[in-house]
Amino acid sequence: MKKLFIVANWKSNLTKAEAEDWLARFKINDLRLKNKKVIICPPFTLLSILKSYILNHKSPITLGAQDISPFGEGSYTGEVNGKQIKEFADYVIIGHSERRNNFSENNEMLARKVEMAKFHNLRSIFCVQSEDTPVPEGVFLVAYEPVFAIGTGNPDTPKNADKVADEIKKKNRAVKYVLYGGSVTSKNVKSFTQMQNIDGVLVGSASLDASEFLEVIKNA
Ligand code: PGA
Repeated sequence: MKKLFIVANWKSNLTKAEAEDWLARFKINDLRLKNKKVIICPPFTLLSILKSYILNHKSPITLGAQDISPFGEGSYTGEVNGKQIKEFADYVIIGHSERRNNFSENNEMLARKVEMAKFHNLRSIFCVQSEDTPVPEGVFLVAYEPVFAIGTGNPDTPKNADKVADEIKKKNRAVKYVLYGGSVTSKNVKSFTQMQNIDGVLVGSASLDASEFLEVIKNA
């Protein structure tokens, strides 16, 4: 049975009270996860709350951040650095198209972020928009997220996503796992995870509803 990564990307959503309500409804301890690794990537403001919850409830959830500063500690107003993230999380999303497009993050900046993640022992979930997006050295976990599929209810076809995943692995020998992201739901998740070259999913909108995300995990 291949390993499957099921990653929630909450983006810029949920207050503390809303996250607590989500956690109360997210009965993950009742599931048999077997080969499935569940990673939740909340906004920075919620990492501490989720970490406490995980420890107190012996929850199998792993935490990820949604971004990392390209710099270390110091005078970088507004940034959260790798050392700070590592107190709470083991993974970090880097290169999401929303950051490339809204915050002008270019390949050079993203490579610096990957370096920072490596330095602090954080695993990058590096997002690419096609097989042609450059993947920085040392990344072993990539998420293929075509822009047309994000938040649109219009996912890529499993066949094409599988083909792109295969090409990404062939082009980048260090890449061991490729996830698919873009309009994944509990209804279509299996059509992606059953493909040979797809090792999991990155889930936005459908992860904001605790019971729907549980169904995504169950059906994956
Ligand atoms: P979506 O977002 O599931 O809402 O399409 C996925 C993502 O952007 O990571």
